[in-house]
Amino acid sequence: MDIKTYLADKRAKVDEALKRYMPGPHGHAGKLIEAMNYSLFAGGKRLRPILCISGAEAVGGDAEKVLPAACALEMIHTYSLIHDDLPAMDNDDLRRGKPTSHKTFGEAIAILAGDGLLTEAFAILARLELSGTGAADVIKKIIGLIATASGWQGMVGGQAMDILSEGKDIDSSIMGYIHSHKTGALITASVTSGAILGGCSQEHLNDITIYGQKIGLAFQIADDILDIEGNAEEMGKGTGGDSKKGKNTFPSVYGLNESKKILSESIDYAIEALGRFDTRADPLRHIARYISERKK
Ligand code: IPE
Ligand code: IPE
Ligand code: MG
Ligand code: MG
Ligand code: MG
Repeated sequence: MDIKTYLADKRAKVDEALKRYMPGPHGHAGKLIEAMNYSLFAGGKRLRPILCISGAEAVGGDAEKVLPAACALEMIHTYSLIHDDLPAMDNDDLRRGKPTSHKTFGEAIAILAGDGLLTEAFAILARLELSGTGAADVIKKIIGLIATASGWQGMVGGQAMDILSEGKDIDSSIMGYIHSHKTGALITASVTSGAILGGCSQEHLNDITIYGQKIGLAFQIADDILDIEGNAEEMGKGTGGDSKKGKNTFPSVYGLNESKKILSESIDYAIEALGRFDTRADPLRHIARYISERKK
């Protein structure tokens, strides 16, 4: 299979669905909706929604059925980027090839656009409609899983530690905590929620959770490496910021070569975790490789 074509096809599907969920600016919330749409449709790889779809397809599930959850995951991710870029956090000017939300709309509207995307994601999840026995339990499980992965036990917890550790010497266990939480948690929730909605067994869910954790960690290590070696224009965001801000990253803690080694081992581990899956999991295998080779 050609992974580039696969990703482009799925990205188009996700974009189309996101457009259905997001209204155009109207009424008194017009400016806020404009800001939400500005960041949501500025570009972006759509990795998390694609993982949700590929997770479902890997266990014989239906892509259409998981599209609402896929869109909710992208909204949560986009909210996290808007807040991550704020002056109080990473203070960045460029995101997805455009000025960051706070540069365009001001800090207050940027914060609220993030809040609006986060809460709308859960409104979409609450409206999920599934048929069959146990459908309500599945929906409840997905909502809980995504909320936990996004909140203090997941992404928000990791983001807090990322900020609190700036300029400090940290040990490898804290470094692992930051990356597995700020980035790994939502990536894991993306692929596992897709698999659960696709009707997977507990055994397959355990395997796919390991896959998610490993590619999630790898994804952030690759992001750290790209901050040093990447091309800002291609990535649509600035480079070199991590060292200027005194961020703890895999390269700052382990060095560049060791980081690349850990990245490649994590990808191998992720693919091995899918040993029990048939060819329907090939997209997940290719996505793992893509994560370590990506240039943006
Ligand atoms: C950027 O995420 C933030 C990190 C978790 C490293 P992505 O690299 O997935 O950003 P988009 O969605 O493609 O813009
Ligand atoms: C961001 O990590 C992780 C989240 C947004 C949760 P980074 O701060 O490294 O992401 P970039 O480099 O700004 O995209
Ligand atoms: Mg950050
Ligand atoms: Mg940042
Ligand atoms: Mg980064």
